[in-house]
Amino acid sequence: MSESSTSFTPGRQRPRRLRRTPLMRELASETHLRASMLVQPHFVLNSAKGLERIDSMPGIDRMGRAELLKRVELDLKLGLNQVLLFGLASEEQKTPQGEQSADQDGAVQRATEELKEEFGAELSVMTDVCLCAYTDHGHCGLLANGEIDNDPSLSLLANMAVSHAGAGADVVAPSDMMDGRVGALRDALDASGFGNTALMSYSVKYASAYYGPFREAADSAPAHGDRRSYQMDPRNAREALREALLDEAEGADILMVKPALAYLDVISAVRAQSNLPLAAYNVSGEYSMVKAAAENGWIDEAAVVRENLIAMARAGADILITYHGRDALAGAWL
Ligand code: PBG
Ligand code: ZN
Repeated sequence: MSESSTSFTPGRQRPRRLRRTPLMRELASETHLRASMLVQPHFVLNSAKGLERIDSMPGIDRMGRAELLKRVELDLKLGLNQVLLFGLASEEQKTPQGEQSADQDGAVQRATEELKEEFGAELSVMTDVCLCAYTDHGHCGLLANGEIDNDPSLSLLANMAVSHAGAGADVVAPSDMMDGRVGALRDALDASGFGNTALMSYSVKYASAYYGPFREAADSAPAHGDRRSYQMDPRNAREALREALLDEAEGADILMVKPALAYLDVISAVRAQSNLPLAAYNVSGEYSMVKAAAENGWIDEAAVVRENLIAMARAGADILITYHGRDALAGAWL
């Protein structure tokens, strides 16, 4: 025995004691996943019927209202009580200003009405508020001389949010990343008698390559250019706090960080700066990568999904928006 070993007594500090049995590990566990944290996104067609597979997102489909209602009914039985709806528009419905976005007969508005009529308070309906699926240029705001025209975009976004609230949405979720949109939406909702409609802001949304499969699913890729003049630069984290605190000041009820897995540091930084509930959006590319690897037999899907969801929760997210939601509950992966 060397001299130094006497200053260290093995056995006094043994973290492994708490890992010895499943019960001990459960007792010492710090992070807990619950079904009520999960939000399942859906792509909604503007039709009663229809079911279209999305090649890059196995297990996720574009659905007409009948199919959507069936799917949600099954999900509710699994304890999946929250949906986030994305609407689709036909090529003929897309215009420079994306007016279809606020049409009371639009995909999201009709689907929201039917879901709330069918399931009432059993289901929280959240709706994505953004122009990109409805503009012919595919950008999230209006364009003037090839550049984003921020302030005139706000009233269109506000009209869209009000139409969703009118259809019965519990939560509207602006994903456009225009400056000032949270305040504009809150004012418009309040002025239209929708003071009880909650606002979940995509506060910290990065210009990310992980949105690739979504843009195929929602047919919302920009026809020219990219989204870097409005979505955040992946190199920035301090700026994330600025965005989050502005949205809180403008009246957001829930903040969001998106994507999730490459931005866990940002989730944890926002968590430390705000007392609002915080959502993490486990985006399409994150889902597709797991699915592709699992289909090849390269990873254990259940274990990887669980680990990913735990990572988001451990980083500080209270709400997990994930395409894995249904599979995770059906397979008891949590
Ligand atoms: C539209 C929108 C996008 C996503 C949510 N809303 C795409 C984008 O901004 O290009 C991404 C969701 C995902 O990838 O799962 N503003
Ligand atoms: Zn958009």
